[in-house]
Amino acid sequence: MIKITCVVENEALPGTSFKAKHGIAWLIDTGSARVLFDTGPDPDLLAHNAALLALDWATIDAVVLSHAHLDHTGGLPAVIAHTRSSIPLYAHPDIFRERYSRRARCGMGIGQKVLDDHFHLRLDDQPVEMVNEVWTTGEIVERKFFEGRSKWHEVQIDGEWIPDPYRDDFSVVVKTGEGLVVLCGCCHAGLLNTLSQISRTFDGKIITVAGGTHLGSADAAMLAKAVDALRDDYNQPRLYPSHCTGQKAFNVLADAFGEKVQPCPAGTVLTF
Ligand SMILES: [Fe+2]
Ligand SMILES: [Fe+2]
Repeated sequence: MIKITCVVENEALPGTSFKAKHGIAWLIDTGSARVLFDTGPDPDLLAHNAALLALDWATIDAVVLSHAHLDHTGGLPAVIAHTRSSIPLYAHPDIFRERYSRRARCGMGIGQKVLDDHFHLRLDDQPVEMVNEVWTTGEIVERKFFEGRSKWHEVQIDGEWIPDPYRDDFSVVVKTGEGLVVLCGCCHAGLLNTLSQISRTFDGKIITVAGGTHLGSADAAMLAKAVDALRDDYNQPRLYPSHCTGQKAFNVLADAFGEKVQPCPAGTVLTF
């Protein structure tokens, strides 16, 4: 059995002591290996929720970062404090670029040297199998559909402010006996661009998509396009749109697909 646990999210499972804050972290347990995907915004919060899950940090085999933003990487000090040294950390090579939101830094709060001292850094823009059946998507190279953009996200190149190209944004694919499970961080590269790349790269049907889809900035036409694609091109996968999805987009998806759309607060466990 493959078990995927939402460790950190904007909301917590009602009636539990999980803490919630804008951000996301997932624990993927294949039965033979464990991968931590993103770390949420805060080390204490990550450690608190991990303790509630009785997580034995020594059993983490790999860590992967969806992109640089602090709501996904802010918990890294707790990961460094608790995990075995020299385990691999997977990310896109562009993750250490300085990034800004409203001209304030919003990228990695921790330097490459510090990460290098603890982890075996595995920076790659290609899909990588991190542990058996758990892959990164690699860089989302085709952006023919709308992206999960914020107009405030910028980078500086040669002194010029330009929109963040989000080259570092990727997702994770878990191959299960039932089909492909897609876990997203923020999906800045765009949900449909990400799903399209996964379909081209991996065999099998996408059965579940969970995590941040960044549809909050999508207008009505974009949301309609997403619904059409999920219905016609992807055969209505089960959806757990969370984090940066936005309530309006969640409602549109829930109206279209009913019970197949569910929230995924911290403490949620998905099994396959
Ligand atoms: Fe982000
Ligand atoms: Fe985010």
